[in-house]
Amino acid sequence: MSSQLTQCADESQAERLGRCKRVLVVDDEPSARKLLALMLHSPSFECEGVGTSEEALVAIRRESFDVIVSDLRMPGMGGIGLIPEARRLQPYAAFLVTTGIDDVKVGVQAMRLGADDYLVKPLMEEAVLASVERALHKHDLEREIENYRYHLEDMVAERTAQLKAAIQSIEQSYRSTLEALGAAVELRDKETAGHSRRVSGYSLEIARRMAVPAEQLENLIRGAYLHDIGKLGIPDNILLKPGPLTADERKIMQQHVSIGFSLVKGIPFLEGAAEIVRTHHERFDGYGYPAGLKGEEIPLSGRIFAVVDALDAITSDRPYHRAASFEFAQDVIRCEAGAQFDPRVVASFLNVSVGTWAHIAADSPRMSS
Ligand SMILES: [Fe+2]
Repeated sequence: MSSQLTQCADESQAERLGRCKRVLVVDDEPSARKLLALMLHSPSFECEGVGTSEEALVAIRRESFDVIVSDLRMPGMGGIGLIPEARRLQPYAAFLVTTGIDDVKVGVQAMRLGADDYLVKPLMEEAVLASVERALHKHDLEREIENYRYHLEDMVAERTAQLKAAIQSIEQSYRSTLEALGAAVELRDKETAGHSRRVSGYSLEIARRMAVPAEQLENLIRGAYLHDIGKLGIPDNILLKPGPLTADERKIMQQHVSIGFSLVKGIPFLEGAAEIVRTHHERFDGYGYPAGLKGEEIPLSGRIFAVVDALDAITSDRPYHRAASFEFAQDVIRCEAGAQFDPRVVASFLNVSVGTWAHIAADSPRMSS
């Protein structure tokens, strides 16, 4: 037996109070059903009444309810039998049971089975409304938590994307800053216009062929841009001197390595790049400067850079010589394998065609492009 007991009459009022709540009243006493329907009246509630737990399950399977209020003592499976199945079918519905004074223990048992509260007959309207509100609030919170969990993965993915975009933006700023620093060195040291961009492209080509891990390539690019940053601290009369340097002037000129290293070593994102600044004038045979490092004492980035620095010096116009061909540069560098340069790096360098070097020289991208 099922009957529509009350309806949400004033929708606008119901709207203000929150959505009209669907209530299922389960009681074999028609008068008890009617009493609860009077207490849970419109516009906040819309009640449907049934006389048995079996009828209640039919209704619960048919539609969803916000609140189920069930008597415990009923013919058939009774209220206790209804709770587990109703909970399984509609876990977010508030479930209240009504008991006689003698049934308090059964009410407690009902709560153990999943009921939110029990109401002792005779029912008081204030107690019923307070209990329903409490149970609804509890289930609203449970639903919110479930919803939050459900969307957590999306939120993490969204935040990760935002973080990646922020990191990319910061990296872009780093690159622009490094480009500006590289350009500042090139402006002072007029003979090397475009040098940073080219040696950066050359370094990448060799590093990839030597299977340098991708995460170290960025350090190589940064180091290539900054390798001569210490020249900013070399006096013009030495840096821009057209003729050969004296021994003393050469010593001052060589200080650009330590000046550059001291400039970049304390900057966390330039730690990897600082290796190139520090070692780009070391020689594989140990006769370089400033530390006279030998062989693999020189980090691979420094050994790669030494080759490409020479390549660009040979193939660019300088005040003291005209640009030579890439073929000539290959011959010079081949002859220095094991002396100035690491033979493994030279072997990788020689595997690259002249056409590729020319293409990189013409088209190697700027850092921030
Ligand atoms: Fe240098």
